[in-house]
Amino acid sequence: MKTGIDQISFYTSQYFLDLKTLAEARGVETGKFYVGIGQEKMGIPPPDEDIVTMAASAAFRLKEQGALDGVEALLFATESGVDQSKAAGMFVHGLLSLPQRCRVVELKQACYSATAALRMAMGLVAMKPKSKVLVIASDVARYELGSPGESTQGCGAVAFTVSADPRLLAIDPEAGFYAEDVMDFWRPNYLSEALVDGKYSTLVYIKALKAAWEQYAEESGRFLGDFARFCYHIPFTRMAEKAHQKLAKGISDDELCQKIGESLIYSRIAGNCYSASLYVGLCSLLDHAAEELSGRRIGFYSYGSGCVGEFFSGVVQTDYRMALFTQAHQNLLAGRTELTFQQYEDIYHCGIPTDGGTYIFPQYRTGPFRFAGMQRHKRIYGRR
Ligand code: CAA
Repeated sequence: MKTGIDQISFYTSQYFLDLKTLAEARGVETGKFYVGIGQEKMGIPPPDEDIVTMAASAAFRLKEQGALDGVEALLFATESGVDQSKAAGMFVHGLLSLPQRCRVVELKQACYSATAALRMAMGLVAMKPKSKVLVIASDVARYELGSPGESTQGCGAVAFTVSADPRLLAIDPEAGFYAEDVMDFWRPNYLSEALVDGKYSTLVYIKALKAAWEQYAEESGRFLGDFARFCYHIPFTRMAEKAHQKLAKGISDDELCQKIGESLIYSRIAGNCYSASLYVGLCSLLDHAAEELSGRRIGFYSYGSGCVGEFFSGVVQTDYRMALFTQAHQNLLAGRTELTFQQYEDIYHCGIPTDGGTYIFPQYRTGPFRFAGMQRHKRIYGRR
């Protein structure tokens, strides 16, 4: 039985900061960000948008098509959790009126957790082939102002359904994985910004990639030439390019662009979406590849700091183009509002009130849902 991703939908904030604006403000050459890091714009969530509203907005497109009818589990991957106890997926379950016969849980291991969710979803579907699981990954990448990580911020969510006989991608059983207890990137509970040992994190990313690929290659007997395309975890697009150059030694610039270029288009203008980022790459690839990909194998590298890496693969299914949300993704990205540097810093400093009072947040542009305010330490969500 084939199991995998039936449909996938991507959402990001309606606001962005151009990295040339950041470069001017920080006295850095724009080339460092546009070329050296490979990022052009970063998505910035306004005060009434968070991981829950982005997640619900991504999944809403699936809901509108009836794809969430009868869904039996919602696995929510994030490293920007909004509550230490209640899973962010519970709010989404309410906003989307999902069935009450549904398991809901939140998963965490930095940017890797959506891949763990995908594997768990496949296990659930294998046990009950007629069932369907909704996986959501949603994150806000946030670093200290003026720090080296600042230019690699971003935000976004992906929502995908996992089922038998998927229309988009059948996931192969083979996988290679690697874990090592390291401190390359972390966020203590009392901080709202991530801490990172930047250069070290890029080295561990590559180390885990090599180990995961080695196991995958041993198990599957496949070679790099067996893949039509590759999707990487994308903290910034140059990282994915460097990773592929490490794996495919001596690859030409043209071939590098052919193998991973389409997967980087959305991330270059949305920024790091942490747990969602690999799957934003998949959306970008399927939305942009002019070449017919049905029947072709895609390689995936998922990385979560701390660290876990996994290399796995999937085969694109016939008629996959019928199951995409290409136009909706492109309209969203084209319709975003650009922030000035001052607006960016003002939004950055808007914290969540912690005194238990009643707060109604100003209305910004969001998707179908918004984080309307706080009352007695409860988050209030609603329709826009
Ligand atoms: N024109 C073109 N290129 C330029 C340039 C210019 N004017 N000025 C500098 N550059 C190049 C540099 O030569 C360098 O290129 P190489 O990497 O090829 O040497 C590149 O721009 C970056 O410059 P620096 O190395 O000086 O940048 P930095 O030290 O200020 O910051 C970073 C880089 C450490 C990655 C930082 O962005 C960071 O800490 N990011 C957050 C951590 C991160 O994303 N890590 C990735 C792995 S961990 C992970 O994947 C999990 C996750 O999601 C966070």
